[in-house]
Amino acid sequence: MAESHNGLFVTIEGVEGSGKSTLAEALAARLRASGSEVLVTAEPGGDPVAERIRTLLLDPTHAISDRAELLLFEAARAQHVSKVILPALRSGGVVVCDRFADSSLAYQGLARGIGLEVVESINEFATEGLKPDLTILLDLPVEEGLGRTQSKDRMTSEGIEFHNAVRKGYLALAAREPDRFVVIDARKPIGEVVRLAAQAAEARRAKGR
Ligand code: TYD
Repeated sequence: MAESHNGLFVTIEGVEGSGKSTLAEALAARLRASGSEVLVTAEPGGDPVAERIRTLLLDPTHAISDRAELLLFEAARAQHVSKVILPALRSGGVVVCDRFADSSLAYQGLARGIGLEVVESINEFATEGLKPDLTILLDLPVEEGLGRTQSKDRMTSEGIEFHNAVRKGYLALAAREPDRFVVIDARKPIGEVVRLAAQAAEARRAKGR
């Protein structure tokens, strides 16, 4: 069952190094300036329990099976939704979340090959049916993104083919749901990326999501 709330839920997705966290902060600043209460958060994490799961998931010394990996991301998500995201949306605020359920679809469902159907049903359970009102996909060639990131965690350390599959997966998800997704070329100047994202968020807000 879809969760009811009167806030606005915006998620930001993309491959490593696409500038999601920078956009999340800049978009929040724009929305605050126009009078909204905005919470910025990120997955995996956003709550003390979810942060513990994040540490486990990203530790490069751990060999985690594909199914265990999916369930750990989803456990962190269930905690984040229940303790942080839903309360903020129910109080009428805007939540800007750096990665959400589409990350599991692209990384675990498509790039790892678990399949969309399984991941969709676990996403549905973990999120209590909560769906983003708007998803900004920051798209760029994976070589450029990996070149921008300093991180050497368990996921970033995957080969280039894996990350290419993630990028392709995201573009397929966006094509499937063109009303929810807005795809922005992450190579554009940051000011332009923020302007396009804010315009999309304001448009959702204006039409009452
Ligand atoms: P993080 O350091 O947050 O990366 P980024 O800055 O790129 O967001 O690490 C999160 C990693 O976990 C990233 O490689 C994407 C991956 N991930 C999944 O594979 N599935 C998921 O459901 C989520 C939320 C993240």
